[in-house]
Amino acid sequence: MGKLCDLLAHLEPKKKLTPMRTHYCGELRKEHIGETVTLYGWVDRRRDHGGVIFLDLRDRSGILQIVSDPQRTPDSYEQANALRNEYVVAITGRVTQRPDESLNPRLPTGEIEIYADKIEILNGVRKQLPFQVSSADTENVREELRLKYRYLDLRRDRMAKNIQLRHQVVKAMRRYLEDIEGFIEVETPILTRSTPEGARDYILPSRVNPGEWFALPQSPQLFKQLLMVSGLDRYYQIARCFRDEDLRADRQPEFTQLDMEMSFMSQEEIIQLNEKLVAYIFKTVKGIELHHPFPRLTYKEAMERYGSDKPDTRYGLELVDVSDILKDSGFKVFRDAIANGGIVKILPIPNGNDAISNVRIKTGGDIFKEASEAGAKGLAYIRVREEGEIDTIGAIKDNLSPEQKAEILRRTGAKAGHLLLFGAGDTATVNKTLDRLRQFAAKEFGLIDPEKINLLWITDFPMFEWNADEKRLEALHHPFTAPHPDDLHDLKTARAQAYDLVFNGFEVGGGSRRIYQRDVQEQVFEAIGLSPEEAQNKFGFLLEAFEYGTPPHGGIAYGLDRLAMLLAKEESIRDVIAFPKTQQARCLLTDAPSGVDAKQLKELHVASTYKPKT
Ligand code: AMO
Repeated sequence: MGKLCDLLAHLEPKKKLTPMRTHYCGELRKEHIGETVTLYGWVDRRRDHGGVIFLDLRDRSGILQIVSDPQRTPDSYEQANALRNEYVVAITGRVTQRPDESLNPRLPTGEIEIYADKIEILNGVRKQLPFQVSSADTENVREELRLKYRYLDLRRDRMAKNIQLRHQVVKAMRRYLEDIEGFIEVETPILTRSTPEGARDYILPSRVNPGEWFALPQSPQLFKQLLMVSGLDRYYQIARCFRDEDLRADRQPEFTQLDMEMSFMSQEEIIQLNEKLVAYIFKTVKGIELHHPFPRLTYKEAMERYGSDKPDTRYGLELVDVSDILKDSGFKVFRDAIANGGIVKILPIPNGNDAISNVRIKTGGDIFKEASEAGAKGLAYIRVREEGEIDTIGAIKDNLSPEQKAEILRRTGAKAGHLLLFGAGDTATVNKTLDRLRQFAAKEFGLIDPEKINLLWITDFPMFEWNADEKRLEALHHPFTAPHPDDLHDLKTARAQAYDLVFNGFEVGGGSRRIYQRDVQEQVFEAIGLSPEEAQNKFGFLLEAFEYGTPPHGGIAYGLDRLAMLLAKEESIRDVIAFPKTQQARCLLTDAPSGVDAKQLKELHVASTYKPKT
């Protein structure tokens, strides 16, 4: 019996030394003065002011000052002395008014401090920190190091705020879609069939089906359409998508969409619902009242005026087509561009003359480099002087008639001080070049108001664009997008019922109404060069589903990472993703991708053909 008692006494959980948490650090204010509180968190910073120790205690809600002093709080002093940055502690103490000279208006908790009656060290830091975590430290840490120690990076103020903001965005999406609009969240498969939508697929071997492969979804596109066939009516999903494509600051191989699909709604109704959703997100997350309807531009107009289907319209710098003025120009580059079906366009830059020297525009200059990276072979320009006199440099010198000069000035509205940059060649390259130069000039001349929020729909995309490499038409959006009902007579030149949402020059969302009739879908497959056999092989299940009573439907998907990035005013989506990949598509924290055992490969019936370079 005695033995059993001993055993039970031994098994009885040790009495917890510290009481339960009463508050988070960031929520304490003057109203709490006089209360005894218990807090848990990390030591953000420790300062020893001649015997009195000040700690900044941090948890996910914020920072709070803790004081330990040998006279007033002798019981906590020894521990306070032993603390170092990033130690994990529990602190019990009294909320006290800070003396006037130590009020900190930059902290929400800056009017109070806690006199620590008791400090319990829950865990220490045993190695030197790879970088300082404290928000008081403004050290610019290399991104590689931040990604390797991401769990520490996420403790830092900026990243912690970004992750919380992202959560708020998702929460607002769910609240609006579920509670106000009656959407249902449905999960769609991650192991699915390879149906490339533009990018390369990530594929996985199937152990139980030797020689066959799953693909990770590039988006839940076909499943969400099938859910409409099922009568779900309104679907959404916070969906992980995978695309093996070249990475940029706004692209990750694994990213998240808010994916939506709805039945029996016109394009107009879908757009209106989405404007209300976006306005709800801005209001709940940022407290910003957005006016809607948002402005709209057709694809054609966007390309003409800005050279881009995702223009940043927070500033002007609109492009001007001068092809008709210069079609008979003495300057061969212009004449040939137009004769070959291309265009000549101008980017007029007010006050560009003084700021942009000839050296910068000529070969080797930074502006020339921008243009050539977009594919331009040269960069002609004109400087407008007083009284409308113009300097034409290089080869266009003497090749413009007085009438042509006058018409260029009239059409561009150029005044003294204007620099006119020319793009000449095939339409796509000219637009790409001038779009890039337009963005460059806007940054250089400080034309972007960072507080401005510019949301814009781009509509009436063409159904197809020409893929010069593969010599075939390619769906601009995806091949499930419905053609405009007025354009059915010629699918190849038809407009699509597609719409993108652009936010300050970033495509944050894209969607369309879908094809829901088998014969139309088959015609579109044919237009993009899929033979009936290929179409049947790849998309037979969809074509068949269309024969069992498919409702008219449409949808959209938002890039959650991009939206969160813009709302957080960050420049890379990596800064709003907890564990992102690098530009080389690697995870520096876990060091993935990695090799696998020969045994695993054998089971999968897979062998690598890769031969490392020696
Ligand atoms: P789309 O391919 O336009 O449409 O993708 C929708 C949105 O997802 C974001 N996005 C990305 N974000 C980060 N990294 C990437 N690699 C990446 N690729 C795309 C963009 C984009 O606007 N199935 C259709 C949607 C539909 O028609 O409903 C689709 O996926 O913000």
